[in-house]
Amino acid sequence: VTDVVEVALGERSYPVVVGRGVLARFLDHVSLPDGAGRAMVVTQQPVVDAGHVAPVDAGLVDAGLEVHLHLVPDGEGAKDVAVLAELWKAAATIPLSRSDVIVAVGGGVVGDLAGFAAATYARGIAVIQVPTTLLAQVDAAIGGKTGINLPEGKNLVGAFHQPLGVVCDVDVLSTLPVREFTEGLGEVVKYGLIADPVVLDLIGSVDGDVRLRPDMLEELIHRSVAVKSEVVGDDEREGGRRAILNFGHTYGHAVETLSGYGEVLHGEAVAIGMVVALQLGQRMGRTPPEVVARGIAAIKSVGLPTVGPSLDREAVWQIMGRDKKADRGGVRFVLLDDVGAPVVVSPEPTDVDAVIGAFGQDQVG
Ligand SMILES: NC(=O)c1ccc[n+]([C@@H]2O[C@H](COP(=O)([O-])OP(=O)(O)OC[C@H]3O[C@@H](n4cnc5c(N)ncnc54)[C@H](O)[C@@H]3O)[C@@H](O)[C@H]2O)c1
Repeated sequence: VTDVVEVALGERSYPVVVGRGVLARFLDHVSLPDGAGRAMVVTQQPVVDAGHVAPVDAGLVDAGLEVHLHLVPDGEGAKDVAVLAELWKAAATIPLSRSDVIVAVGGGVVGDLAGFAAATYARGIAVIQVPTTLLAQVDAAIGGKTGINLPEGKNLVGAFHQPLGVVCDVDVLSTLPVREFTEGLGEVVKYGLIADPVVLDLIGSVDGDVRLRPDMLEELIHRSVAVKSEVVGDDEREGGRRAILNFGHTYGHAVETLSGYGEVLHGEAVAIGMVVALQLGQRMGRTPPEVVARGIAAIKSVGLPTVGPSLDREAVWQIMGRDKKADRGGVRFVLLDDVGAPVVVSPEPTDVDAVIGAFGQDQVG
């Protein structure tokens, strides 16, 4: 089965295709720009080695396009201005015209980088996102956020640039290292908690490795994609509601930053941040204890951590953007009034301190 979820953004609406073995026939669902003659496929070596680029190339060639492959270095370091400049030059050398297309085949790194190249080259050309990690399929590839990092901070330079389409082939996830796969499940649990209780039921019903249940995995991805697509369609530029997607990210960001790059992966940090948000909600009398228990059970059952490293509290506040004690009441957290009922609130700093303080001691004790 192939499912197509629409991101509804008027003239810029686009399909997110979810299915098994859809790489070679994604152009059945995604229409190319009028007059497209060339495609630059941007990817990384592990994705080529895993065999996921060849079917995409074949599909583009079948559609009559001249295909150029452009490899970027592997890892987060590729979201860099020098790598971006190489991409612009490669596009100009081919040369890509305004009606041609960039195809990003890879994880969130490739999607963000190639998406930003597409947003800026020739004042913007079309991009098709072919995410090959679970995190990118359910999150990064949908919604049009693109960008690169600076030494001063992650994702500091970027643009909104919605793709022509997003192609999520469940089968490509079989070659993903297990830790990267599990990391993506954190986002899936997030969608369950903020919007779709069925996701939590499904996770609760899997006995063992969800990767051995492709039917179930496909449904989890489909439901996650549906949540993200709906929220993005409602609030493209994060003027309001899109902020609920940051559930678990306020404290998660601090964990990720303070534990050192690569120590705690983004999805693991978000899992820890979701536990903090659940406990904070309970402390504030908003989140019912059974919702807290259900969330923690889901996080555990997918193999993600529920307790994080013990962190210096002042450093945590600094990462959350509040060096000064007087400003601390303004930090925004996404909390849950119930499963499927997220709220954005600014808690009392004493409540935040109590939860993260107890959290750190848990770990030490
Ligand atoms: N734009 C957004 O809205 C958004 C949202 C969330 C995250 N992000 C960004 O996403 C990035 C993280 O993305 P990620 O977690 O996908 O990491 P990643 O892109 O670095 O991919 C992880 C690793 O897996 C390899 N890989 C990818 N697909 C594979 C496959 N099918 N088989 C084997 N290996 C494969 C990659 O080459 C890489 O080494 C961060 O830069 C983050 O800022 C963006």
